[in-house]
Amino acid sequence: MRKKIVAGNWKMNKTYSEAVPLMYEIKDLLFKSSKSESVIKIIAPPYLYIHDFHETSKGLKNLFIGAQNCAYEESGAYTGEISASMIKSVGANYIIIGHSERRSYYKETHEDLKKKTDITLKHGLTPIFCIGETKEKRESNEHFNVVEAQITDSLFHLSAEEFKKIVLAYEPVWAIGTGLTASSAQAQEMHHFIRSLIEKKYGSGVSSDISILYGGSCNEKNAAELFACPDVDGGLIGGAALKAKEFVEIIHSFPK
Ligand code: PGA
Repeated sequence: MRKKIVAGNWKMNKTYSEAVPLMYEIKDLLFKSSKSESVIKIIAPPYLYIHDFHETSKGLKNLFIGAQNCAYEESGAYTGEISASMIKSVGANYIIIGHSERRSYYKETHEDLKKKTDITLKHGLTPIFCIGETKEKRESNEHFNVVEAQITDSLFHLSAEEFKKIVLAYEPVWAIGTGLTASSAQAQEMHHFIRSLIEKKYGSGVSSDISILYGGSCNEKNAAELFACPDVDGGLIGGAALKAKEFVEIIHSFPK
């Protein structure tokens, strides 16, 4: 069964004294909301807060903590890096891999992301693997090729059993943090394309079970229309995840 998921990517925002009350605010709103129980809710704060947030998340159904990145090495002399096993040891269940900010600012390659996916799965964590084209690539009509290469080069070495454990997030780069959202037709078209790629490689059992999230200026106003698309299974939320009420409204935006 395909899962409905809303994940909040806090990026490099909030000091500790700002982050803790926001996490409590989100938890309190979720406690009062029976509608949100069946949705998988993930908060991906900066690494430093994962342990605390994991403690805070306890007792609330389907609320999980994620990291925004991980090292592709297991352990050792990699100053400044954080490993998947460390992330697991402080209570996270998910790791965002291949966010476009990591790809562009930190030059993460398809090969790096392949290794990060492997190590995440090895430690029993779920990768939220991000894909998406830039504005230039969409304008030159290469968006399908870009997304296909991102998936093929970093993920198609996985077995069907492994692939089934992944969550995908389609995030057109031109929509991230810009206030420009893909239209529901554009999102559905790409999500359907992604699902058909997976079907060709792994069969319809796997493709129909994979959750594909949309990300890029998704907010409480446009989430319902996006989540109503048959191939959109939720959202990866940046800016709107930093406001408790808006974030919870997004979680309430799935069709009945
Ligand atoms: P945004 O970010 O919602 O602020 O556009 C989404 C993301 O980068 O995951």
